[in-house]
Amino acid sequence: MHTAIAFVGAGAIAEALIRGICQTGVASAAQLTVTNKNTPARRLHLADTYGVRACDSIAEAVQAAEVILICVKPKDVGAALTETARYARADALYVSVAAGCSITWMTDVIQSARSHDAAPGAVRLIRTMPNTSCAVLESASAYALGDACTEADGALVERLLGAVGTCHRLEESQLDAVTGLSGTGPAYVYYLVEALTDAGAAAGLDPDVAYALVTQTLIGAAAMIRQTGDGPATLRERVTSPGGTTMAGLAVLRDYEFAEAIGAAVRAATARSAELGQLWTSVTEGAEVDGPAGTKRPSLTT
Ligand SMILES: NC(=O)c1ccc[n+]([C@@H]2O[C@H](COP(=O)([O-])OP(=O)(O)OC[C@H]3O[C@@H](n4cnc5c(N)ncnc54)[C@H](OP(=O)(O)O)[C@@H]3O)[C@@H](O)[C@H]2O)c1
Repeated sequence: MHTAIAFVGAGAIAEALIRGICQTGVASAAQLTVTNKNTPARRLHLADTYGVRACDSIAEAVQAAEVILICVKPKDVGAALTETARYARADALYVSVAAGCSITWMTDVIQSARSHDAAPGAVRLIRTMPNTSCAVLESASAYALGDACTEADGALVERLLGAVGTCHRLEESQLDAVTGLSGTGPAYVYYLVEALTDAGAAAGLDPDVAYALVTQTLIGAAAMIRQTGDGPATLRERVTSPGGTTMAGLAVLRDYEFAEAIGAAVRAATARSAELGQLWTSVTEGAEVDGPAGTKRPSLTT
């Protein structure tokens, strides 16, 4: 694509996206600008590493951009969007990666901040939910289009998110479930790896050896799911011989209601995501959208 793309925020997710976009050739580094707030060394690192243009201000970074990626923490979205909307082109497409910030709220912030000279135009905004594995270009991402977005906008965000993994288009109302499942999911898997490693050590293995075995088992099982195309139930049944070791182990997991525990965890994380999103909206209702420093916000991280 030949689109000019600006990154507002130069942290972990901005770097993952920049790396993925450059590595996969979705766009060239010359098309990308990046800015942040307090740490010039960080944006200069991105310029040195990937060849993108580091900008000292949001105004400089976004003024020519056709697509603007908002890559700041949820608590900073109000301030970053307000500043961005003052200088952005009226036809810019906004893409937010911030957890919990609704399309309606972000659109209101942009509309309130736009300069009076700017063409009014509808705000085109896409809300996305990547996960932490975007750092290794293996994110399981989802996104929802705002009402003013076009099919071309959807195709564009699929190319951007596709540079750091896979992505699915959903309704915005489903993004809490995405947060509870794939947003929080890596932590469940890390927890499983910890538990298996401890179990291996308790069974007499050197902890480092146990960890290496568990890690490769996880990678191997994921590759089997991806490469064979067989579902996990088929793969599980195929390795479960009557009276064998797998059957003995799985029976204990069932006794401990493993599936129920996982289901309850996803439900709890989904509910918490919805709760934090609502809290966010209620806290900022009635507040000056361009004066977020005085508003108390909950911490919204996955
Ligand atoms: N990391 C993940 O795996 C992941 C996964 C899913 C979703 N997300 C979402 O991605 C967003 C960013 O997360 P992150 O992990 O990349 O955070 P991060 O590493 O803390 O980076 C945040 C960046 O935002 C910049 N920033 C803050 N306020 C700003 C402002 N007013 N103007 C311009 N830049 C500003 C910071 O600049 P300074 O350091 O200079 O202040 C920093 O570069 C969050 O909303 C999170 O919910 C992240």
